Amino acid sequence: MEFKDRPHVHFFEETTSTMDVARKLAEADCPHMTVVVANRQSAGRGRLSRNWYSVDGGLYFTLVLRPNLPVLSVYRVLFAASVSLARTIYELCDVKASVKWPNDILVGDKKLSGMLSELCVQDNMVQYLNLGIGVNVNNDPTIVEPNSVSIKGIIKKEFSRRILLAGFLDSLESVLPTVDKDDVIGEWKQYASTLGRPVSIQTTKTTLRGVAIDVDSQGALIVELPDGTCQRVSHGDCFHDAGGRPASD
Ligand code: BTN
Repeated sequence: MEFKDRPHVHFFEETTSTMDVARKLAEADCPHMTVVVANRQSAGRGRLSRNWYSVDGGLYFTLVLRPNLPVLSVYRVLFAASVSLARTIYELCDVKASVKWPNDILVGDKKLSGMLSELCVQDNMVQYLNLGIGVNVNNDPTIVEPNSVSIKGIIKKEFSRRILLAGFLDSLESVLPTVDKDDVIGEWKQYASTLGRPVSIQTTKTTLRGVAIDVDSQGALIVELPDGTCQRVSHGDCFHDAGGRPASD
């Protein structure tokens, strides 16, 4: 991959995790929209302390953002980023991707991309937000995760990771200036595949089962439990359970 034209891009043939490099750069005051991208990661990380299998062919990057937002508004950037990624994948690759709450990108019911964030806050204001994204582009993720898919697996040919990354950065950069005012949740709902489905939400403490009925203005998932009461869930890993909408929706 070559990223020589773009400012603030740090490219590595291999690194442990682009999150590690991005944190060091952010702590050393690197500018907003600094991108750390690697061809491979030897210790790629996923959410909830999982590994992210990071062999050649995938797109692995961490974007350092300085959005000048209160910490309570950070969810807006994350939701906007997942919409930007789903939209970019559709526009550039002609692949209809949806978003699983909160930020996974799916095609059908298979995972195409995941997002991890790290935050530094001072006096309730975001100092930096590191957004780590892995996209299965030309790699075969099914070797370790059968319920996953790659762009190459769908379109039956390789797609340029550089073009995909540039398209995503352009898209996100264009929405960031107004992310505190825009209807990011409304936009997100247009791409969401979680609402109306039976779901399981795993948190560090419990697993909750019910039907995902809405996402509120703070990005929390509203789950209707079997007893008819509703629970608001702001963190956790969401699984789409059987009995929901067909995967082709
Ligand atoms: C998830 O779905 O669990 C999140 C996966 C995030 C993976 C990306 S790849 C680039 C960045 N570096 C990492 O170590 N993780 C994120």
